[in-house]
Amino acid sequence: MKVSVIIPTYNERENLEELFDRIKRALEGYDYEIIVVDDDSPDKTWELAQTLSEKYPVKVIRRIEEKGLSSAVIRGFREATGDVFVVMDADLQHPPEKIPELLKAIENGADVAIASRYVPGGKVENWYWYRKLISRGAIMVGRLALPRIRGVKDPVSGFFALRREVVEGVELNPVGFKILLEILVKGKYSRVEEVPFTFGLRKAGESKLGGKTILSYIKHVYRLMRWEGELDRLLKFSIVGFSGIIVNEGFLWAFVETLGWNRFLANIPATEMAILNNFIWNDLWTFRDLKRKPFWQRLLNFHLAALTGAVVQWAIYAFLVYFGMHYLLANLIGIGVSFIVRFLFNRHVTWS
Ligand code: GDD
Ligand code: MN
Repeated sequence: MKVSVIIPTYNERENLEELFDRIKRALEGYDYEIIVVDDDSPDKTWELAQTLSEKYPVKVIRRIEEKGLSSAVIRGFREATGDVFVVMDADLQHPPEKIPELLKAIENGADVAIASRYVPGGKVENWYWYRKLISRGAIMVGRLALPRIRGVKDPVSGFFALRREVVEGVELNPVGFKILLEILVKGKYSRVEEVPFTFGLRKAGESKLGGKTILSYIKHVYRLMRWEGELDRLLKFSIVGFSGIIVNEGFLWAFVETLGWNRFLANIPATEMAILNNFIWNDLWTFRDLKRKPFWQRLLNFHLAALTGAVVQWAIYAFLVYFGMHYLLANLIGIGVSFIVRFLFNRHVTWS
């Protein structure tokens, strides 16, 4: 088994020698190569890497035309000759001593092995609580929006290993900087394993991925949702939802006007008719490819989702009105949140 360690760099001159040295020690006994993909760093990282290639098995790619972290990693994949690829940062926030553990996981049958901050034993050094919160929140949003990565605790780690086959022939979008997210959604794999590690402090230099990252992350998740067809589902789910309103009104009218039922009570069977209508269309259309659970269980879960949505809707309405919001606006927000809750419940439970 040959290992290709892919390292994107931009102004990492000061970290390079220690990095190579620690990789060399960590990978003693392994057949490996290091591939540095540098975007023509002003500090001439590429030049130093070239010099160090006399001492270490390093191949240097100096890119002049292209820029960007993800596209650098993708370029690294193309240049790599190994059977297993390891991707890591150059700034020593990713301890090279973890690489053998990642490789062990692959040897034991994992297709992707992630050095993870968020499995037991993993952590982040020196982050303020709000940075942690943002990081965890962003990951939670990603996991809810993209069912394929639901089981992964740290899908945005920049430190991971994978079998060549996972990305071979897969078209990865170089936009955005969470390349692992891209791989986990589009790659060809069945087993992912996470190995805990401590995301340490940068040794030298500074981070290139600051401010704009949240927005760019949201855009990335959105693009992947579209790619996965999740956005189509969301659209279908809303169309079905609207059809439910018509069914609800129609039956309410019929129960009251033609059957003469009590107006206070007729609302209940009318709502049930709408729930049944929505269930049928979602089952036949929105989630038709995901009928893994038995029919009765799907039907039951769908009712649970409707109930949960109703409770959430009321709670948000009551909360906002209590704190002085106009009741019509509060209701609108309640409806919106309930919609999201029902979609996610159905996507992750009813049709999972
Ligand atoms: N070639 C190239 N081109 N390399 C780049 C570029 C670029 O445009 N931008 C950054 N790099 C290199 C850096 O030189 C470093 O080796 C690595 O990519 C990570 O960049 P940092 O600037 O150190 O990123 P970070 O520490 O803020 O973020 C890291 O942790 C995140 C998790 O919190 C990265 O690993 C992210 O991918 C990861 O999501
Ligand atoms: Mn870093």
